[in-house]
Amino acid sequence: MIGLGTMGSNLLQNIADHGYSCAGFDIDSKKVATLNQLNRDGIKGFSDMNDFVKSLNSPRIVMMLVPAGKIVDGVIEELIAVLEKGDIIIDGGNSHFIDTDRRFLDLEKKGYHFIGMGVSGGEEGARRGPSMMPGGDREAYNAVKPILKKIAAHVNGEPTVAYMGERSAGHFVKMVHNGIEYALMQLLSETYEVLKNGLKLKDNEIHEVFKKWNEGRLKSYLLEITRDIFAYKNKGAKYLLLNDIKDEAKAKGTGKWTSQAAMDLNLPIPIIDIAVSMRDLSKYKTLRTRASQIYSNPKDAKYSDSSEKYIATMEEAFYFAMASAYAQGMHLLYRANEEYKYELNLGVIAKIWRGGCIIRSEFLEDIYAAYKRDAKLKHLFLDHGIENSLVKSIPGIRTVVSDAARGGIAVPAFSAALGYFDNFRSENMPANLIQAQRDYFGSHTYELIGKEGVFHTEWEEPNN
Ligand code: 6PG
Repeated sequence: MIGLGTMGSNLLQNIADHGYSCAGFDIDSKKVATLNQLNRDGIKGFSDMNDFVKSLNSPRIVMMLVPAGKIVDGVIEELIAVLEKGDIIIDGGNSHFIDTDRRFLDLEKKGYHFIGMGVSGGEEGARRGPSMMPGGDREAYNAVKPILKKIAAHVNGEPTVAYMGERSAGHFVKMVHNGIEYALMQLLSETYEVLKNGLKLKDNEIHEVFKKWNEGRLKSYLLEITRDIFAYKNKGAKYLLLNDIKDEAKAKGTGKWTSQAAMDLNLPIPIIDIAVSMRDLSKYKTLRTRASQIYSNPKDAKYSDSSEKYIATMEEAFYFAMASAYAQGMHLLYRANEEYKYELNLGVIAKIWRGGCIIRSEFLEDIYAAYKRDAKLKHLFLDHGIENSLVKSIPGIRTVVSDAARGGIAVPAFSAALGYFDNFRSENMPANLIQAQRDYFGSHTYELIGKEGVFHTEWEEPNN
C-alpha cells in the first residue's frame, strides 16, 4: 500500500485481518512509524521505495491511496522504475476517469497491469469493509479478486465488490457514486432547512424526525449519520456542535466532475448539478450576508404548524427526490456505458452499493430489484416497481416545493427533482419554441413534426 493516511492504513489493517501479509510505504516517516507501532503480524511499513518493493512477492500487487492528480502520476513513475513487467498497480483514490484512461493505456504499453478502483466508505469502511469499484485490466482483477472479496463489506453474505468494466469504468462509477452522494447530502440539508426555518422544529425534534425516518424506507447511511449529528454536543456544551460549524461547504471535486461528465454526454442530472452549485454558493458568505440585509422573507409566509402530518408529507418528498437522485445517477451510467463502451452492469453496481459505501441505503434494494427485472432498463422511472412508490409520493413533493416557494425557504434540489420529473413525464416539452428562436436569430434551422429534413424560415419577412 502506497499512502499511509487514514484510508491506506485502515485498509492495510483490514487486509491483514484476513490473514494476508502486506507492506506499506509513505514518504512521511511519521506515518510509517505509526504503522509499525501497531506491531501487527503481517504488516510492515517502509519509507524507502526500493525496500518496500523488495519486500513483496512476484507478481507484486501494489495499491495506492494518494490524493488524485499529479501525485498519482509521480507515484506511478517512481514505482515502475522498481517494479517488473507483469506486476499489478491499483489506484484506489478518487482519480478523474480521463486520467485513469490515459494511465491504463500507458501502463499497458509498458507491460504493467493497471486497475483504477473506486473505494467508498470512509475510514470506517476501509477498516471494516468498504464497497469497491475496480475497473481496467480484467486479468489483474481476477488475480486480486480473492483479497478484495474478503476485505469488502458483505450484504446477505455477498461481498460489495465486482469488476465494473473496461479501462476507467471503476473510477467513472465511483465518480457517479459521489455525484449521488452530493445530491443526497444537499437534499438532507434542505430538509434540515424546512424543518428548522419552515416548521420551526428544535434540534432535538429534528433528531427525532431523522431517527424515525431511518427506521423506515429511507434507511441509509447518510440519514443515520445526519440523525447522530443532531444529537452531538461537545462535552459540557448546551448546543449542538452543528450550530457552531461555518455554513461554507467544501468539496474535493468529484461532484463537479460528475456534472461536467454528464454535460459532456448531454445527459441531465439536475439534482447533482444543483448540489454542486449550492456548495459553491455557500462559499459566498459575504455576499449572502449583504443580500440578507436587503431582501427579507415573504411577509405572508405562513408555514403550516409543525405536525406529524407535515413531517409525513416531507418524508414523501424526500423519498421522491432521493429516488430521482439515484435515477439520474443511474441514467448517467447508462449513457456513459453506451459512449465509452465500458460494459457496465447497472444491476451489479446497485448490488455492490448496498453495503460499505457512503450512499448505501434501503432504496438500493429496490434499484437492484428493478435491474433484476430488466437488466437493460433505460431509466429507473420506467420500472413498474419504482413507478408504484414514486407515484404515491408525488403529492408530497408538490406540497413541500410549493410551500417552500411561498415561505421563502430554499429547496433547489427538491425543486430540481420535481421539475425534472414534470418534464421527463411530458410527451411535449416547450423546446419547439427554443428551436424557433434559434432559427430566428441564428438561422440554426429546425425540424418539423412528421416531415423529413431541416427547415429555415426568414422570420422577419411577412408571411402573407
Ligand atoms: C466515499 C467518499 C469519499 C469522498 C469524500 C469527500 O465514497 O468514501 O465519496 O471518496 O472523497 O466524501 O468528498 P468531497 O470533499 O468532494 O465532499
